Amino acid sequence: MTKESLTITDNRTGKTYEVPIEHDTINAMDLRKIKVNEGDFGMMSYDPAFKNTASTKSTITYIDGDKGILRYRGYPIEQLAEESNFIEVAYLTMFGELPTQQQYNEWEYEIRHHTFVHENIKQLMEAFRYDAHPMSMFISTVAALSTYYPEARNISDPQARMKQIVRLIAKVPTIAAFSYRHSRGLPYVYPDNNLGYTENFLAMLDKMGQTDYAPNPILARALDVLFILHVDHEQNCGTATMRVIGSSHSDPYSSMAGAAAALFGPLHGGANEAVLRMLVEIGDVKNVPDFVKGVKNRERLLMGFGHRVYKNYDPRAKIIKRIADEVFETTGRNPMLDIALELERIALEDDFFVSRNLYPNVDFYSGIIYQAMGFPVAMFPVLFAIPRTVGWLAQWVELLEDDAQKIARPRQIYLGKDTRDFVPMKSR
Ligand code: CMC
Repeated sequence: MTKESLTITDNRTGKTYEVPIEHDTINAMDLRKIKVNEGDFGMMSYDPAFKNTASTKSTITYIDGDKGILRYRGYPIEQLAEESNFIEVAYLTMFGELPTQQQYNEWEYEIRHHTFVHENIKQLMEAFRYDAHPMSMFISTVAALSTYYPEARNISDPQARMKQIVRLIAKVPTIAAFSYRHSRGLPYVYPDNNLGYTENFLAMLDKMGQTDYAPNPILARALDVLFILHVDHEQNCGTATMRVIGSSHSDPYSSMAGAAAALFGPLHGGANEAVLRMLVEIGDVKNVPDFVKGVKNRERLLMGFGHRVYKNYDPRAKIIKRIADEVFETTGRNPMLDIALELERIALEDDFFVSRNLYPNVDFYSGIIYQAMGFPVAMFPVLFAIPRTVGWLAQWVELLEDDAQKIARPRQIYLGKDTRDFVPMKSR
């Protein structure tokens, strides 16, 4: 029988330590007992960018990066994308189980009836410059919501928490749509609570005063599936930020603004925008080999490729590639798709990418669909943030209910100057 522990010999002292193993992991605090002498602080682990450090136990999302598997609460992403809808997946992610019909109806009703924002929020958004990036507007407006709901600071009250969760999930499409209308110089369209989640979002984007406006059902379903795919992805940069800010007991609006800010970066959720800009720059399939040469010469990154966890095809990218065909039947084919397919073909045959396990990630094809649907490139990160709101909030609740969690506070290895005496200006 194997013993669930690790035996560590410190060659500096010859001492041996036994460290328990749980879930293939050792507790970093157990290393602290490894000391050269009694006054020694004890050993730490060094892990910039948390490449091999679990910061939490979680029951929300499972990823097997080598096999390309993604599950929410145990349900494969492929089945959820095929058979469920965003509101149901949001319930599942938040509460851990699929809803009964009654639970679904109540949840859907709650979300549907919290879509409006205070008129001052609208005025606040109107104050942004005409060319403000929609994601910057989104981040700032989510943060501003905390000024409207001071009770949100009562994070230890589950009822108060749930109120903010419903508000956030319901209001993010409204804020996103307002940011889009602002960037287009168009009047903001109020939510229509007769419409479902995705349809209402599309209406707030598109409506031009028609009384008979009806969103295209194929595009609405495609967007709903894209939302499902983006709900959660365990401890990525944005979610880790949500947890770090939440660990100081900030209100959920402030924490989520931080998470969205992390998502904005081009290495994370901003990659969908960066992919499209890259495809536009390549311009033509014939320019792909030269571009790939530049990537291999380390002049730039192939945006939408590579992932910290997936060392295989991102399962979300596979589903998105399939949806693309359905969307293009309605919108017409996006010419950028040919460039993307050629990039993928060349990259997946090239040793540079194969040896580093660089495959298309979720952002490689999503932007092509968003663009075909008529979204400007700057809206892409906002489209990521809407569904990720659910994941951020589910992870935030899990954090607050986890007794093992405390304020996040990493250590450092100090390599600066040793103590030295201050030198007055005239003597320097
Ligand atoms: N193009 C070219 N080379 C790459 C790329 C890329 N997109 N990604 C990684 N590499 C190389 C990297 O240079 C390194 O090579 P070497 O070992 O020879 O120095 C090797 O592959 C390993 O990469 P890494 O930078 O150590 O990997 P990481 O886990 O730190 O970074 C990543 C992951 C996603 C930030 C990175 O792959 C990247 O910058 N990709 C492009 C941006 C992108 O598409 N981001 C979206 C991620 S999925 C959406 C989400 O975040 O939720």
